[in-house]
Amino acid sequence: MNVDHVGKTFTLDGGKELKAIDDVDIKIGQGEFVALLGPSGCGKSTILRLVAALEDVSTGRVTVEGSNPTALSRAHRLGVAFQDHALLPWLTIRDNIALPYKVAGRPVDDKRIAELLALVGLSGFEKARPRQLSGGMRQRVSIARALVLKPDVLLLDEPFGALDAVTRRHMNVELQRIWSEQRITTLLVTHSVEEALFLADRVIVMSGRPGRIIKEIQVPFARPRSPDVQRTMEFHHLADELTLALEPEGHH
Ligand SMILES: Nc1ncnc2c1ncn2[C@@H]1O[C@H](COP(=O)(O)OP(=O)(O)O)[C@@H](O)[C@H]1O
Ligand SMILES: [Mg+2]
Repeated sequence: MNVDHVGKTFTLDGGKELKAIDDVDIKIGQGEFVALLGPSGCGKSTILRLVAALEDVSTGRVTVEGSNPTALSRAHRLGVAFQDHALLPWLTIRDNIALPYKVAGRPVDDKRIAELLALVGLSGFEKARPRQLSGGMRQRVSIARALVLKPDVLLLDEPFGALDAVTRRHMNVELQRIWSEQRITTLLVTHSVEEALFLADRVIVMSGRPGRIIKEIQVPFARPRSPDVQRTMEFHHLADELTLALEPEGHH
C-alpha cells in the first residue's frame, strides 16, 4: 500500500476550505501491520477513507497492491471494519458475515463463513442476532465480515474504540492471533498507544490539523506476542516515547 505525498482538502458549506491532511507519505509492505496514532481530527479516518476509495485525494496518489483504490474496492479485495460500519440488526450473524458475498454478487461460501466463525471464536452463533451478542463478540463479527472475501488489505478504524478496557485487551490478543494466521496487509487506526505497540510492526504518529506524520517507530517485539510483552521495560519506554509525541506542541 502506497500513500504517496497525499493531501486532502475539504470544501465546507459556504465555500471555506479545510486542509485535513498535508503531504502524508505511508508505505506499507505486503503482509505488514501498521498502526496510525494521532489526536482527534488529525485526518486518520480520512486516510483510511482515501485508501478505501470512499474519498478522492486532492494532491498526491494512493495505490494499493499496484492498483488504484477504486479498482481494488470494485474487485472486493479490501476488507474494511470501521466503527460506523455496524452489523445489520435484523440479520443473523451468519447473514451479516455473508453480506459481502451478496454485495459482490458472488455465491455465499458457507465453508468459509464457518472457518471465519471458528477463527474469531464464534462457532455456534450462526443463528444469533447482533443484539444477543456482547460488544466484543460483535466486533469479532465485524472483523470476520471484513475478512470473508479474503481481502489483500485490511483497514480497521478504531475497531475497539467503544469497548471497555478489559474486553479491549482481550480483543487485541484475539486480533493478533487472527492476523498471525492470515498476515494480511493491515492499516489500523487507534487511540491507544498500547494497542498500537502490541499489534503493529510499525507505528506512525500524526500531528493535528493539517494532519502530518511526525514520528514513526519500528516495533521490535518478536511474534507471536504474549500480553506479557506489555510489562517489559522496552514496551514502557516505547509507549512513553509515543505518548510524548502525541502531546500537543508546547507541552513537551
Ligand atoms: N466529508 C468531510 N467534509 C468536511 N470536513 C471533513 C470531512 N471529513 C472529515 N472532515 C474534517 O477533516 C478533519 C479530519 O477528520 P478525520 O479524518 O475524521 O479525523 P480523525 O479520524 O483523525 O479523527 C476534521 O477536521 C474533520 O472535521
Ligand atoms: Mg476517525
